[in-house]
Amino acid sequence: MIIWWPMDGGFRKVITPRLASGSKLMPTGRTFLTTGADFFSDEYMRDGGTYRYRRYSALEYDVADGIFRLLPRAPYEQSKAVNHLNGGFKRYFEPLEQSFIDHPVLNKILTDFCRILSDATRHDRWNIKLHPYRIVARDGVNGEPAPEGLHQDGVDIIVSYMIGRVNVTGGVSTVKDASKQFLGDVEMNLPNDFLICNNRTRFHDVSAVAIENPKMPFAYRDVLVIAFEKI
Ligand SMILES: [Fe+2]
Repeated sequence: MIIWWPMDGGFRKVITPRLASGSKLMPTGRTFLTTGADFFSDEYMRDGGTYRYRRYSALEYDVADGIFRLLPRAPYEQSKAVNHLNGGFKRYFEPLEQSFIDHPVLNKILTDFCRILSDATRHDRWNIKLHPYRIVARDGVNGEPAPEGLHQDGVDIIVSYMIGRVNVTGGVSTVKDASKQFLGDVEMNLPNDFLICNNRTRFHDVSAVAIENPKMPFAYRDVLVIAFEKI
């Protein structure tokens, strides 16, 4: 596993980090998000794109009791200032399946992130927005993991967690500082690779994905975006 950790003081690549150590669950991470039926098409794309499939649910977490509480279903909304493409209106997405919410792999991933973030920030209560995305590339039509371009997401910490890639090239993540100066880029290729950013001080972008072999029936990139906001 590779972590790209562009928090403060630069952009560091860390191999075999704490999150992976001792976890027998991590190599099976792909098992909890595996089929096209896990996703629904995003009908709100203001660029007219049909390449994005997703779900959405939010949780709350308090380190004091270590319990993730699923929040009532609610629309996802970003301001136009944060998301110039799809911001400024409510978007109603299909919620995560209960089997996904309850999956021990997801629980392990979220518990470890919450522990790390709480240690790093001395903050114990988090709102956690879960966005599993499938970005599809079709013959002659690329998929756009970040159609809004270089952006922030209006939260404190953002994690892009690689679930898997099938028959695609591209999908390079770029991180820039508050002045939009380049800090680094990475093409996450392996399941469980992830990139974590201080979303208040960093901007991020992801390049398009294209079909690698057009003779194969599918081409897609599955990522779980996890957004943490202090409450
Ligand atoms: Fe983002």
